[in-house]
Amino acid sequence: MDGNGRWAERRRRPRIIGHRAGARTVNICIDFCIARGIEALTLFAFSSENWGRPEDEVGALMKLFLNALEREVEELHRRGVRVRFIGERERFSEKIRERMAAAEQQTRNNHTLHLTVAASYGGRWDIAQAARSLAADVAAGRLAPDEIDEVLIASRLSLADLPAPDLFIRTGGDTRISNFLLWQLAYTELWFTELLWPELDATTLQRALDDYGNRERRFGLTGSQVAAALSNETVE
Ligand code: FPP
Repeated sequence: MDGNGRWAERRRRPRIIGHRAGARTVNICIDFCIARGIEALTLFAFSSENWGRPEDEVGALMKLFLNALEREVEELHRRGVRVRFIGERERFSEKIRERMAAAEQQTRNNHTLHLTVAASYGGRWDIAQAARSLAADVAAGRLAPDEIDEVLIASRLSLADLPAPDLFIRTGGDTRISNFLLWQLAYTELWFTELLWPELDATTLQRALDDYGNRERRFGLTGSQVAAALSNETVE
């Protein structure tokens, strides 16, 4: 969700105005996913590194987050959205943690869209917490080191129950991953736009989808192997 600050600065407004506008863009993305039958949307709302921003900006973001939790969850539930949060929760206030848990509990049986908000999240943190949980099992004698493989590591990551993302969209003009879902993005298609997050609309999201639809995903195989696998799928 990159570019909120610049969006506000270009209008000579405080950065928090950009974050407020950015929070509205979240609804555009959710509407788009539901309309297109997209099953999972993961938003990188606040990174592990964002805690290092000026205190007043972090404070204003926490207020915005709490407001969104208080105002939006009921409507998301009504629309069949399952909401959950990934990241280092201990760093949030008790009130925010309670709201997060309540939103997850209320929406846990919904299936229209799996909405994940990555908050106080970092891809490196995620891999480290997976490693810690495996190490604890080894230390307790429940697991042998040579049983640790890619599947087991993936099963301890935050989004273990969802498939890896098909498409990654980054707004704001920077062409990097910035510590998002490092493990899960291994074969994800990346799509970048100069547009700032508050400028993102359904037309741009559709452009990203169309571009994604024209790509050949080979997962390390050759083009002809992929074509053969696809035609087998069609026959079956
Ligand atoms: C990135 O724009 C956006 C953020 C760091 C925060 C976005 C979060 C919300 C709008 C909702 C609040 C949610 C939580 C979980 C606190 P930027 O400020 O990096 O933009 P810039 O690159 O233009 O400076």
